Amino acid sequence: MAGLLAPHPPHLVYAENPEQNEPSSEGGWEQLRWGYERLRESLSEIDYDCLVILSPHWQTYVGTHFLGVENFKSLSVDPVFPNLFRFHYDMKIDVELAQAIHDEAQGQGMSVKMMENPDFRVDYGTITSCHMVRPQWDKPIVAISSNRGHAYYSVEVMQEMMLELGRATRKAIEDSGKRCVLIASNSLSHRHFTTESAVPEDMSVEHITSHAMHLWDMRIIELLRAGKSQQVVNEMPEFVEQAIAEADGGALTWMLSAIGMPEHGAILHGYGTIIGTGNAIMEWPCHAWSDA
Ligand SMILES: [Fe+2]
Repeated sequence: MAGLLAPHPPHLVYAENPEQNEPSSEGGWEQLRWGYERLRESLSEIDYDCLVILSPHWQTYVGTHFLGVENFKSLSVDPVFPNLFRFHYDMKIDVELAQAIHDEAQGQGMSVKMMENPDFRVDYGTITSCHMVRPQWDKPIVAISSNRGHAYYSVEVMQEMMLELGRATRKAIEDSGKRCVLIASNSLSHRHFTTESAVPEDMSVEHITSHAMHLWDMRIIELLRAGKSQQVVNEMPEFVEQAIAEADGGALTWMLSAIGMPEHGAILHGYGTIIGTGNAIMEWPCHAWSDA
């Protein structure tokens, strides 16, 4: 098992010019794309069965949902950046493992549901993170929604639910015997620009929105590199409030819980800003830890 922090701004896919995406670009955001390259290189050394991802852009206000159809194929258009992201996706789902995590979470008293509508349009967060981690699209995916516990209650309640969901995820994966890569799909600080430059990939205008956001991003990265996962969870209410952090969707807390709240340091593969937001690409190679 390995854990990842793998942010999903559609700009990254746009800048890569894969054949599935309609718009074309002159590149951009190379610091982050090189970071994803290093992550892919690191993952190429391990054999795994499946990607398990939680995206803040699949928002289900009544409980946690899991994609529950073998195959989803359609066109995903980013509602905010239709000029950058019109992506033709074709993804396989590991319904068996999704059902197992669903059942385990249900057994723990959580509100959960299998999403079985074959015409459902998969969110761009799931698609972007999965594409950047594994552009071959050859691994089945377990996709988990964000129940927006923060929006409905508070960061504290959201985290209690995500810690529980993480434990259920871990138990179901262990029982399945499958080797999984768990992906928290989110940026760190998330205060973004409200206008776009004429050339979206013009890097002369790309920077963090404020010094305060930079300080928060560096603090969280250093804590995670030092293996202080629990401290990150403890500081999450302040981080979410002050940095408008996208970890408010619960992905980071869920992933850290699922890999056992590690005290081992994470590997930082890259950091960069996208329309002013802070993005880190990080890896927790649990498979290499003797106590994992
Ligand atoms: Fe996002």
